[in-house]
Amino acid sequence: MCQRPQGIPQQEHFRLETVEVPALSDGEVLVKNNYLSVDPYMRNLMRRSKSYMDSYQIGEIFGGAGIGEVVESRSSGLRAGERVWGILGWQEYSVHKAGQLLKMDPGVQPATAYLSILGTPGLIAYFGLADVCKPREGETLVVSSGAGAVGAAVGQIAKKIYGCHVVGITGSNEKVHYLKEELGFDEAVNYRLDHNLRIELMKTCPNGIDMYFDNVGGDISDAVFGHINDYARIAVCGQIALYNLVRPEAGSRILPAVLLHRAMVKGILIADYEDRLSEARLELGRWLREGQLKCSETITEGLENTIDAFINLFSGTNPGKQLVRI
Ligand SMILES: NC(=O)c1ccc[n+]([C@@H]2O[C@H](COP(=O)([O-])OP(=O)(O)OC[C@H]3O[C@@H](n4cnc5c(N)ncnc54)[C@H](OP(=O)(O)O)[C@@H]3O)[C@@H](O)[C@H]2O)c1
Repeated sequence: MCQRPQGIPQQEHFRLETVEVPALSDGEVLVKNNYLSVDPYMRNLMRRSKSYMDSYQIGEIFGGAGIGEVVESRSSGLRAGERVWGILGWQEYSVHKAGQLLKMDPGVQPATAYLSILGTPGLIAYFGLADVCKPREGETLVVSSGAGAVGAAVGQIAKKIYGCHVVGITGSNEKVHYLKEELGFDEAVNYRLDHNLRIELMKTCPNGIDMYFDNVGGDISDAVFGHINDYARIAVCGQIALYNLVRPEAGSRILPAVLLHRAMVKGILIADYEDRLSEARLELGRWLREGQLKCSETITEGLENTIDAFINLFSGTNPGKQLVRI
C-alpha cells in the first residue's frame, strides 16, 4: 500500500514492485505462492484508526492468507515440495519462519478450500451459527451478502446441516439463481432491484426471521430488523456497506425492534475462536468430503490482477470466496 484511501480503494493506493528474493536464514523457508486471499477486512486495515488487527503501514506488503509450495528450506520442519498455508501476503514468493506456516493435507480437495470453506469464511460461518444463531430445524435464517464467501458457507450449513429455511440477500439476478440452483438456498432476494426489500423479505420469510447473519449492515440490515421474530438471534459478522464511507451515516434505529422482540445481537470475530479452530475444521472438512457443502469460489488469474479483484469486492463481481491464482 502506498496511500490510504478515502472511499473505495483505487489502483493508485497500491504499488506493484519487483525486488530481489532475500537470502534465507536458519529456520526459514522460501515459498512460491500459488493462491492469495482477497478480503473485505483488508479495507478496514487501510485506515490509520485502531481495529481488531494492526493497520497496514505505508510501504508495507499488503495482503493476508495464501497457499503455496516450499521451494527452498533451511528448516528441518518443512521440506522443499511441501504445500503450506499461512499469512503469505500479496507476492509471488515469500520468506517465512517455518513455524509460521501450516502443512496442507494433500487429501483435502480442492486445495483452495483452505482459504474458503476451511478458511476464515467457513470458520466464522460455523461459529456464528453454532454460538450465536443456534439454529433449530425449520426456523428461518436470513444472510446478507448471501453469495459472498462467508454468506455462501452460512446458507449451506444452515440448510444442509441444520435444516433451516434459508434466504440469501444478494446483489444480482445471476447470484439469486446461483444461490437457489447451485447452493440450495430456499429463497434469494436481489437487493439492487427497484423493489421494497422489507416486502420481499415478508414474501420469502412467511414465518418471520428467527436468525439474521449480518455481513453487510446499512439499509439491508434495517430492512431485516423490520421483520424479525420474538427472541431472534443476530450474528453481526461484517458491515461491508459501511467500510468505504468517509463519514458515518445515520440509519434507521434498530433498537426498538431489538427491544420489542427481545432479540439477541452479538458481534463475532474469528480471533476469539483460536482454541476451537481444529474442531471446526474437522466438521467442515467432513461435510465437504460428504458432499454436503460446496466450495464457492471466484478465481482471478495473475498477481497483477489482485488489486482489481480486491476493489471488485465492493461492487460484488465475486460469487463466493475471491481468490487470485499466481
Ligand atoms: N467477524 C469476522 O471474524 C469476519 C471474518 C470474515 C469476514 N468478515 C466480514 O464478513 C463479511 C463477508 O466477508 P466475505 O469475506 O464473505 O466477503 P464477501 O461477502 O465475499 O464480500 C464481497 C461481497 O460483499 C457485497 N457487498 C459489497 N459492497 C456492498 C454494499 N455496499 N452493500 C451490500 N453488499 C455489498 C457484494 O455482494 P453483493 O452482490 O451481494 O452486493 C460482494 O460480492 C464482510 O463484511 C467481512 O468483513 C468478518
